[in-house]
Amino acid sequence: MESEEGVTKIIRNKQVILRDYVSGFPKESDMQVVSSGTIKLKLPEGCEGVLVKNFYLSCDPYVKGRMTKRDPGSRYLDSFNPGSRISRYGVGKVWESGDPKFKEGDLVWGITGWEEYSLITGTATQSLFKIHNTHDVPLLLYWNSWYFPEGIDIYFDNVGGKMLDAVLLNMKMNGRIAACGMISQYNLEQPEGVHNLLSLIMKQVQLKGFLVFNYYHLYGKFLETVLPAIKEGKRTYVEDVADAC
Ligand SMILES: NC(=O)c1ccc[n+]([C@@H]2O[C@H](COP(=O)([O-])OP(=O)(O)OC[C@H]3O[C@@H](n4cnc5c(N)ncnc54)[C@H](OP(=O)(O)O)[C@@H]3O)[C@@H](O)[C@H]2O)c1
Repeated sequence: MESEEGVTKIIRNKQVILRDYVSGFPKESDMQVVSSGTIKLKLPEGCEGVLVKNFYLSCDPYVKGRMTKRDPGSRYLDSFNPGSRISRYGVGKVWESGDPKFKEGDLVWGITGWEEYSLITGTATQSLFKIHNTHDVPLLLYWNSWYFPEGIDIYFDNVGGKMLDAVLLNMKMNGRIAACGMISQYNLEQPEGVHNLLSLIMKQVQLKGFLVFNYYHLYGKFLETVLPAIKEGKRTYVEDVADAC
């Protein structure tokens, strides 16, 4: 759909809406694609935000966390409201900017909406980063990643549950565990629990939780390290991309 209001285009803005809170494994029917919405391809007068055309949207475990009903304030981010559009990292192009850090045509990544165009305003613009792509890697990379006969020095945990239990038994003395996520637990009615915590004491292992929001300032450094390694084939990555149009 496309119409003109003065010289400002109003176009269709397809969105993915959360129908209702999710318990257990998320189903397609928990969400609804709504094609009736529209957006003005013009920033509101005086707006210091950024209007972005989205190219890629991330569908990952974080989204499930916010689809679940939780008491307000009990987590670092509240649940989505049923009936509202889902938000998460995306990669897109700046359509219009009222923020001096961005200009029309810039490629950006950051928190955006599951929709064709997003108006990103207020503190949300702080999570928006300009993509310089000097390493010429696929754009979708920007929204995002044995056996140990001698034991494990450092474990970056994204799985939790049985995996974490197995790792705990195989940690080296004075090893370290960075707890980032526990995806094996998110869709269970009752968490499985971790049984081998005694290893933390016996092997003097440190386990610490991390939240990405506290490390955004290191993102540039991360790209400087990882992108050349990908280009040189020293690191590989796997992405599962679905076409939504
Ligand atoms: N601490 C933080 O600030 C922070 C921020 C963002 C994400 N996270 C956490 O980081 C982890 C990865 O998130 P992501 O955004 O990278 O997700 P992602 O790209 O969607 O990857 C999820 C991965 O988990 C695997 N997986 C799914 N269920 C599993 C299970 N029961 N046991 C083992 N593996 C399973 C999937 O394997 P298949 O593809 O084979 O299904 C996939 O490889 C999650 O635990 C998430 O909560 C933490």
